[in-house]
Amino acid sequence: MAPVLDFPINVGLIDDVQELKKGRKTKIPNRFVRDVAERPAVATIQSPLSTSIPVIDLSKLMKGNKEDFHFEIMKLSASCDEWGFFQVINHGIDLDLLKKIEKVAMEFFMLPVEEKQKYPMAPGTVQGYGQAFVFSEDQKLDWCNMFALGLVPHSIRNPKLWPTNPPTFSDTVETYSREIRKLCKDLLRFIALSLGLRDNVFEDMFGVSVQAMRMNYYPACPRPDLVLGLSPHSDGSALTVLQQGKGSTIGLQILKNNTWVPIQPVPNALVINIGDTIEVLTNGRYKSSEHRAVTHKEKDRLSIVTFYAPSYETEIGPMPEMVDENNPSKYRRYNHGEYSRHYVTNKLQGKKTLDFAKIPPKNSF
Ligand code: OGA
Ligand code: NI
Repeated sequence: MAPVLDFPINVGLIDDVQELKKGRKTKIPNRFVRDVAERPAVATIQSPLSTSIPVIDLSKLMKGNKEDFHFEIMKLSASCDEWGFFQVINHGIDLDLLKKIEKVAMEFFMLPVEEKQKYPMAPGTVQGYGQAFVFSEDQKLDWCNMFALGLVPHSIRNPKLWPTNPPTFSDTVETYSREIRKLCKDLLRFIALSLGLRDNVFEDMFGVSVQAMRMNYYPACPRPDLVLGLSPHSDGSALTVLQQGKGSTIGLQILKNNTWVPIQPVPNALVINIGDTIEVLTNGRYKSSEHRAVTHKEKDRLSIVTFYAPSYETEIGPMPEMVDENNPSKYRRYNHGEYSRHYVTNKLQGKKTLDFAKIPPKNSF
């Protein structure tokens, strides 16, 4: 579904970040330089004090004995309560496939810009090559090149945006997305169980879930203290699966207790986070966490991100099991398609996008 903008936009010239670097200019163009309050503190860029978010062993949930299963479910529940993020190991996805998707992604980003621009992300849209979520000329830009595709259902695909170069790109994306889809379905079952709900509760509600993928390439930046790789946001999905390029530097940061916490990559693990949709469905019990990416002075970084969300027709609102007298509904009901359109037609702005669904507390004016 291409978002329909009902307002005119002028995004001005969006520099391609990789091309800037080739120009060997050391001065960062003004459009990338963040206001002081938004700049990442040097101490948190490449901090040796990075944190490893909880690590969930999926094999213990899929085929562990009763004790292991119970322990892992408790860990999952604590991770979702406290972080909205966890990493998953023993996820069952062939490690060669993870390598392969990284390889084709890097090969794509290394193509000449003219080649990549054959698949342009039109201003105000979110598929293709370019920068998403830019709606005005004075909006700050992220130090990142993106390539994004809608995958499921087929109706959201735009075949013109599927690269023919590298030649194995499309096949690899197809295989990868099928595997990640299975993982999302499994994780949602365990997330339901961790809430004391029936395991299929989300899948039964979601219909044919929407799945999209974004590859984010963050070139090294001579002044990582002035820019952001990706603006602060929460994801609009139900679940997000993020693969960090092998040997990746630290780049992902999560806002926890008002502090940006850098996340240490774990080899071969996938990073999972709760999106806004699960926050609404659980009436705020499992919250989507605000996160962002920062850049590195010498090293580039790749991430491959899958967004898994209910079908657009799905009606979303707090589930009855999550609402009672002490926990009145904090969110209204709406179709996921409405939220999705709202999300992709607004700039990334922390958790503000979710105001769309919030019911103001009764005693607040
Ligand atoms: C995203 C995202 C973080 C990263 O694409 O939604 O949060 O580290 N990416 O690339
Ligand atoms: Ni995100």
